[in-house]
Amino acid sequence: MKKGLFITFEGPDGSGKTTVSTAVTERLQKEGYRVRYTREPGGSEIAEKIRNIILDPENTAMDARTEALLYAAARRQHLVEKVLPALEEGITVISDRFIDSSLAYQGCGREIGIQEVYELNLFAVEGRMPDKTVFLDIDAETGLERIAKGRTYLDRLDQESIDFHERVFAGYQKVIEMYRDRMIVLDASLPVEEVTEAAYQAVRALLDE
Ligand code: TYD
Repeated sequence: MKKGLFITFEGPDGSGKTTVSTAVTERLQKEGYRVRYTREPGGSEIAEKIRNIILDPENTAMDARTEALLYAAARRQHLVEKVLPALEEGITVISDRFIDSSLAYQGCGREIGIQEVYELNLFAVEGRMPDKTVFLDIDAETGLERIAKGRTYLDRLDQESIDFHERVFAGYQKVIEMYRDRMIVLDASLPVEEVTEAAYQAVRALLDE
């Protein structure tokens, strides 16, 4: 049987990633495509438990490398339990965040370095990179304004300084450069309906190939 495609959605906080990726999945499902939505960190029972530890605002003492290891651990569990079995069944998996999030947030936001975080994650994913990544591109200022407006509950990472988020934005630009062939970059400063339409068209084209 033909394997499913592994498509990830990436972008900084405030890019509208979750809204767009869930809307795209639902529309494709209604049209009869075999597509499944999942998210990181989390997406399976064990990975959700790890997520709660990572994002708990009380865990202020968490070391940057501990954080990177926990994201990688959650990723491993989610990949093995949810992503790979679905791909084997021929189902396309749309994952809201994956390895690129760690490269940008831990590699650059936490300043561990993209290469070191990549190597740690290679152990977790055993080389399984996404087939394609829809990147919702937005500048730091617009993204941060959206977070400030839209949120009532702020998790441990949302509460980080502006400097941290600026480094994440810059980190993502490096990641786009590194993986040009894998990236479908969309302008996420446009209204969310337009971004959703563009993302839908892009993913459908991949499925129809
Ligand atoms: P997410 O649930 O996607 O939150 P949001 O809806 O705010 O995008 O992710 C939670 C946080 O975890 C988010 O701030 C990004 C961060 N994160 C990392 O720092 N590294 C990672 O590898 C992943 C997957 C997420």
